[in-house]
Amino acid sequence: MNRKPLIAGNWKMNTTTGEAVSLVTQMLPELERIKDVEVAIFPPFVSLAPVYDLLAYSSVSLGAQNMHYEEKGAYTGEISALMLKSLCKYVIIGHSERRQLFGENNEIINKKLKKALQAGITPILCLGETLEHRQAGLAEETISYQLKSSLGDIPGIEYTVIAYEPIWAIGSGINAGADEVCQIMDVIRKTIAELYGKAAANSIRLLYGGSVNNINAGEYLSRESIDGALVGGASLKADQFIGIVRQACQTGI
Ligand code: 13P
Repeated sequence: MNRKPLIAGNWKMNTTTGEAVSLVTQMLPELERIKDVEVAIFPPFVSLAPVYDLLAYSSVSLGAQNMHYEEKGAYTGEISALMLKSLCKYVIIGHSERRQLFGENNEIINKKLKKALQAGITPILCLGETLEHRQAGLAEETISYQLKSSLGDIPGIEYTVIAYEPIWAIGSGINAGADEVCQIMDVIRKTIAELYGKAAANSIRLLYGGSVNNINAGEYLSRESIDGALVGGASLKADQFIGIVRQACQTGI
């Protein structure tokens, strides 16, 4: 199955608009030279429009870090899929920081997924277990539960991307072992096959996220079942991010 590798940079709540423009300007010439790997960046909302202009004729995709499930109305401070769709190809849904710090549950995530798909924005659905669950041997069960309940009654998920981000590996410098990640990827693909059939399971791209950097990226990207990475901290450093994208290109996943 030919799944194009995807390296996604989640900038989280970092960079002013000026810094975002300058980071993209710095990385773009090098990123443009790398073929056969899709690169997507996820700056804060306020930088989406200026970064969109910079990326206009480039192969680099743009995405948002979150969205609300309603289209419009009295939801002070929120941004809808309707507002994002002219700017973004992707939207991150259900990041563990949203789940832990902003009370997002699988039901809310399901509503967001539906709205994103309706608007023609590809969701990157994030799943991940806590350290307690991992240590109790419940990682696979947790992921499968999160996946099934977030997808709920969604009829098809052809273009969805799923990111496995164990919570204990995010921003900690303790990246998960590639074998551990592959085991979870198998659980995800098996669950997708049960819900949507084998073709969907084979075509969906699965990313790993959690302390990925330009030193350890190759461990994941060389594995058949890992189709790319969702990168946090290292995506804010031009040389690191470019290094990760180059490794995706070299390993030819
Ligand atoms: P770090 O790469 O900083 O661990 O963050 C991972 C992440 O949360 C990406 O969404």
